[in-house]
Amino acid sequence: MLSLSPQDDSSPAPRPQRIAVIPGDGIGPEVARAAAGVVLAAAERFGARLELEWLPLGADHYLKTGETLTDEMFAHLRDDCDAIFFGAMGDARVPDMRHARDVLLGLRFRLDLYVNLRPVKLLHPALTPLKGRGAGDLDFVIFRENTEDVYVGMGGNFKRDTLDEVAINEMLHTRKGVERIIRAAFEWAVANGKRRVCMSDKANVLQFSHGLWQRVFKLVAAEYPQVESRHLYADVLAMEMVRAPQDFDVIVTTNMFGDILSDLGAELVGGLGLAASANLYPGRVSLFEPVHGSAPALAGKDVANPFGMILTGALMLNALGHPAAGAAVERAVVECLAAGEATADLGGPLGTQAAGEAVARRVRAER
Ligand SMILES: NC(=O)c1ccc[n+]([C@@H]2O[C@H](COP(=O)([O-])OP(=O)(O)OC[C@H]3O[C@@H](n4cnc5c(N)ncnc54)[C@H](O)[C@@H]3O)[C@@H](O)[C@H]2O)c1
Repeated sequence: MLSLSPQDDSSPAPRPQRIAVIPGDGIGPEVARAAAGVVLAAAERFGARLELEWLPLGADHYLKTGETLTDEMFAHLRDDCDAIFFGAMGDARVPDMRHARDVLLGLRFRLDLYVNLRPVKLLHPALTPLKGRGAGDLDFVIFRENTEDVYVGMGGNFKRDTLDEVAINEMLHTRKGVERIIRAAFEWAVANGKRRVCMSDKANVLQFSHGLWQRVFKLVAAEYPQVESRHLYADVLAMEMVRAPQDFDVIVTTNMFGDILSDLGAELVGGLGLAASANLYPGRVSLFEPVHGSAPALAGKDVANPFGMILTGALMLNALGHPAAGAAVERAVVECLAAGEATADLGGPLGTQAAGEAVARRVRAER
């Protein structure tokens, strides 16, 4: 199953690892097709036995059948699959986004995928808006807590639509939830040879909930004396990510701050078309998705950038225990960027499938 640490590529798997591919809506199917081609090329080149199962869970399926994520499908994903490779969901024909909520948020919460891992790595110097920065200056990961905070949807409106209206959203943090995301960040740092973990909150204002983060961070950090631990308030971290990004290896933070700061991070290294993410429960089936949405205006035109989903595929290969394959995929994307083999949003001449094929070709040619 999945691990946060790179593993030995040579241990033989008892059966092929099964990846459920959920392409979704809009550009999802196009980037998923391109990325699946790269993942399979890497698997073949590095001897990983993978089996892809394509699942049609998207707006079309929902509108045709009324089904989103059935209990049977959920049990299949949980019990029979090793990873879920997700494109994007969002379709104007489903204005309340019911299918996306049930499938994507449903999987995140029902599988308890408490780590949202988002790498911030500069793969070509021209991609950063920061002046004078090169590849070595931007290479860190954000561990965003993925199951708590204001995202639990607790709250309500009192005297709604009157001048006396009161609106409340509860910010929920548990000892268990805070401890496991902080521990995952330290474990990842150790497993990947990183020296520094920075925790970010607003304990100066949110003295109770983020006070818990402060106390737990100190306790967990003490178990990892080989890792340098540091704390920054979220507003200061936003500034420091721009001013001195080279100072970070691993950032661990709350769900809401992680949401905002990881978008800032994505923009520092090339934007949405390149941003990858993993939703993990270490040791269990996890979900891998590019950060971008379904970009309906681009759908069906073969213009969407597949690199975000391809780099997401690299994260999935790492987590499935094939770090050499994951690294080869990332290297191949770096080479494509250097050679200008990219889609129009990055100034390249290629369509979605051709950009995917360019990466796959380089992966196949890896020595
Ligand atoms: N995880 C998800 O499935 C997810 C995430 C965000 C948004 N959405 C949904 O997607 C739909 C569109 O949302 P949005 O427009 O706010 O966000 P979006 O990410 O789809 O698009 C935002 C902008 O980025 C561009 N873009 C996005 N991905 C790109 C790619 N791969 N290549 C080139 N350009 C790319 C788009 O053209 C657009 O200008 C909505 O229904 C939204 O709810 C889904």
